[in-house]
Amino acid sequence: MDTARNQPSLPAQAGVWKKGAYISLFVFILSFVYAFVRYNIVRNVPYDQIPFFISNKVFALSSVIIIGLSFVLGPLAKFWPQTFVPKLYLRKSLGVFGFGTAAVHAVISSSIISPAYYPDFFDAAGKINLIGETTLLFGILAFSIFLIVAVSSIPAIEEKMGMERWKSVQRFGYLAYFLVLLHVGVMDFKDWSDPEAYKYLLIPISLIASLFIIFVFLVRIFAGTFKKSP
Ligand code: HEM
Repeated sequence: MDTARNQPSLPAQAGVWKKGAYISLFVFILSFVYAFVRYNIVRNVPYDQIPFFISNKVFALSSVIIIGLSFVLGPLAKFWPQTFVPKLYLRKSLGVFGFGTAAVHAVISSSIISPAYYPDFFDAAGKINLIGETTLLFGILAFSIFLIVAVSSIPAIEEKMGMERWKSVQRFGYLAYFLVLLHVGVMDFKDWSDPEAYKYLLIPISLIASLFIIFVFLVRIFAGTFKKSP
């Protein structure tokens, strides 16, 4: 969720948001098609669960990818400056759209959390079990940190904070991203070894999200060895 300081001029701002919106929409559509095929077609989840249950997975996966793209642009600009330095301005819009998508996921999840939807998160008495409590805690912590990072990117607040303080708050975005990895890992780790989860090679959404997060961290770690920062 890096807010790029090398912003385009004011008249170009609308175009920046438009591009970020198009990329986010593209990611959302791809995620939707994947979830639709994996759940509605292959696993026969009824179509009437598309608006909430399935779309919640789509919002969840999209947010991971969109936020990840915003995080990975900086390192990519170190490897291929000619291609990616001109794209750095997209970091802010991708961060904001990714956060918005995560917010929708958090609201939908909170409204449908129940043994009927998520039996793995509940015990026989209907209380949230250890897996449910841990996974929800990591999700809520991640979302709270993303919220602070997003608020710090509101231009008036950003200006008041000063560059150094603003940058250190932005870095907490990585902590939040790591907490998302724990959020999805705790929830689905045991299912990743189940061959049924890989029917038609359609791997679990939680695994796609985890691999993408690990990829983003690896690229950033690798890029950390380069001295010049864009
Ligand atoms: C208040 C905060 C949050 C709550 C209550 C929450 C709750 C949930 C729940 C109940 C699920 C299970 C969904 C399902 O399997 O259908 C889930 C899955 C997931 N969440 Fe969250 N979450 C929160 C925050 C986040 C954030 C901030 C992100 C990412 C930026 C995120 C990403 C994911 C992903 C990728 C999945 C896996 C979806 C799947 O495998 O189908 N969550 N979350």
